Amino acid sequence: MSECRVIPFQQEYLEKILEIEKECFPPLEQFDCSVFYWYLSLNPFFYLAECRSEIAGYILGVLENDGSCHIVSIAVKEKWRRRRIGSLLLNTLLEECRKHGAWRAILEVAVDNKPAVNLYLKHGFIVKKIIPRYYSSGRDAFFMEKKL
Ligand SMILES: CC(C)(COP(=O)(O)OP(=O)(O)OC[C@H]1O[C@@H](n2cnc3c(N)ncnc32)[C@H](O)[C@@H]1OP(=O)(O)O)[C@@H](O)C(=O)NCCC(=O)NCCS
Repeated sequence: MSECRVIPFQQEYLEKILEIEKECFPPLEQFDCSVFYWYLSLNPFFYLAECRSEIAGYILGVLENDGSCHIVSIAVKEKWRRRRIGSLLLNTLLEECRKHGAWRAILEVAVDNKPAVNLYLKHGFIVKKIIPRYYSSGRDAFFMEKKL
């Protein structure tokens, strides 16, 4: 997407990210400020999509001790969806993880979250198992994996 570029997370954008959380996830599945601070303490891979001076989305991942790149969250504002911004963010994160020696990428996604499940399938992830009631809302999750 030529009108969008990926930039590393900067503290000044945290408020914008919290707004994206509210827009993109149901209340029981939103990260609040303290969750982001916790992930920030883990030295995460954290990227934003900036489109026409607007923060349109973000992706957050961490490298686990076993060499897995754990994709913790990805979200794109509704008005910017279906323009490959999610794909751009995902590809950026996967590339960074590869460069840092990750051998696979893993994630959890609600089984009924069709846009996200399709995004991951399109990028070569496969469903490894179902985790019952993974979310506080009670929804089940797919555990998905992609070898890097
Ligand atoms: C999932 C999400 C990040 C996708 O972002 P996006 O920028 O719209 O994704 P892209 O434009 O890169 O789409 C890539 C592919 O994903 C799939 N996809 C995306 N949106 C879809 C939809 N509404 N319905 C079905 N498939 C969809 C398609 O395969 C699409 O490829 P195509 O456009 O060639 O058909 C976005 O829908 C979102 O923020 N959802 C709410 C937050 C969320 O659920 N995050 C996932 C947490 S695990």
